[in-house]
Amino acid sequence: PVLVVDFGAQYAQLIARRVREADCYSEIVPHTMPAEQMLARDPAAIILSGGPASVYAEGAPALETAVVTAGVPVLGICYGFQAMAQALGGTVERTGRREYGQSDATVAGPPSTLFADQPDQQVVWMSHGDAVTAAPQGCAVTARTSGAPVAAFEDDERRLYGVQWHPEVLHSTYGQQVLRNFLTRGAGITPSWTSGNVADQLVEQVREQIGSDRVICGLSGGVDSSVAAALVQRAVGDQLTCVFVDHGLLREGEAEQVETDFVAATGVDLVVVDARQRFLDALAGVTDPEAKRKVIGREFIRVFEQAARDVVRAHQGGAGDTDAPEGEHPVRWLVQGTLYPDVVESGGGTGAANIKSHHNVGGLPEDLQFSLVEPLRTLFKDEVRQVGLELGVPEGIVWRQPFPGPGLGIRIIGEVTADRLAILRRADAIAREELTAAGLDREIWQCPVVLLADVRSVGVQGDGRTYGHPVVLRPVSSEDAMTADWTRLPYDVLARISSRVTNEVEEINRVTLDVTSKPPGTIEWE
Ligand code: XMP
Repeated sequence: PVLVVDFGAQYAQLIARRVREADCYSEIVPHTMPAEQMLARDPAAIILSGGPASVYAEGAPALETAVVTAGVPVLGICYGFQAMAQALGGTVERTGRREYGQSDATVAGPPSTLFADQPDQQVVWMSHGDAVTAAPQGCAVTARTSGAPVAAFEDDERRLYGVQWHPEVLHSTYGQQVLRNFLTRGAGITPSWTSGNVADQLVEQVREQIGSDRVICGLSGGVDSSVAAALVQRAVGDQLTCVFVDHGLLREGEAEQVETDFVAATGVDLVVVDARQRFLDALAGVTDPEAKRKVIGREFIRVFEQAARDVVRAHQGGAGDTDAPEGEHPVRWLVQGTLYPDVVESGGGTGAANIKSHHNVGGLPEDLQFSLVEPLRTLFKDEVRQVGLELGVPEGIVWRQPFPGPGLGIRIIGEVTADRLAILRRADAIAREELTAAGLDREIWQCPVVLLADVRSVGVQGDGRTYGHPVVLRPVSSEDAMTADWTRLPYDVLARISSRVTNEVEEINRVTLDVTSKPPGTIEWE
């Protein structure tokens, strides 16, 4: 792999993604990892990320000299560039000239490796107070900016490279080329991390991990669990059983998408549990948002638990004891759609520990111990989508926007009933249809439609007075759902949604728009 050493800023994940966009496999490691361990991974190259500290500040994240002298190609970025300069005997100083944001760099043409194919003036994105004032011996200075006399250096002999700016951010116009040049020309890596290869490799790994065991997967209809299931299906075929719980809080067409489209495309063995009535019963009279979430979560676990037990029983051949013939297994593995950012954020451990399943699915019984299969744990979301397409997962699932587990249940303000669900489902379908027709699906993060079920307002339709319910459109733009802004949807799209919803859904006589960012509002209303 290409190792990205994380010096504590948010940039490491971005760098790792950019490296993969250059078709090279990358992994993030903490700067606290001993050099010996990094080198033991036999990295094709090492990239030192930016970080918030000053290299000579007390307690600044240290860089072991061995990392840059082991003969592995290295690219230092920002803090990593300075740490590298210092480790190689260069000088880093506080120049008094801080550079934050856009800057103009003058770069060297050929024979520079990093800048070989680029104009000698380029816009770069900077964020530093310290600067390298003298390059290490043997390193040629290949760029400068007004605030950084040594803004880049390289030593082709030792394959050591560094830039003061952030090539991984899009504001650095030629940033991706700089990274690509480092990887292919500097480090001599042949780019081969393509979605086709990745899918093949992962399928192979899963096959090896599972062997002839049985495996179970909870499908939600979302991207991650669907792609994970498709991968495992490709690897071990009908050793996999998927369980899909229809809790009746899904949107129009969603259950069908999983039950027919997904099964047709992947051939998975699917158990559908129709729990619609059970959820309605459990939700009767519940109006408090937290209470609803608890009820839905609890019921979900109970239903899934029962389905999992049934699957286990079915594959124990009805023996009911532990005398199953050799070579025959009850269900040993549980598939989880864990992604790389979760792995990195939880410390990047090697995982696959034999855990008690209730820690993961949120409440499977103690006696059902599973080992986890997490085929997506090395992938970023965009890669999961590419792999999904590669495996033939339907586009409607691959490009699905986030949808909360509790579903429409937390988009009905008031008690959840079958009638109200039907009303909201219709209005939601119309809004989604119009947003899709307007080509806005990838632009917006999601657009909840919320039914104010306990509110009524007076309207007029035809010659008559109406006394119906309002719905709220909540279109948001976001990077990660932690913060969000309301999306400025074109008026004509809003007009079409409003007119169609009020015409086609009898009970709704008013459409309103939520223009609150997050914070202070959350994305969902409950
Ligand atoms: P909020 O409302 O907290 O939502 O701003 C942030 C994002 O998370 C989704 N969401 C959920 N997803 N289970 C989920 O799987 C949940 O209980 C849940 N609640 C909110 C929401 O749709 C948005 O994308």
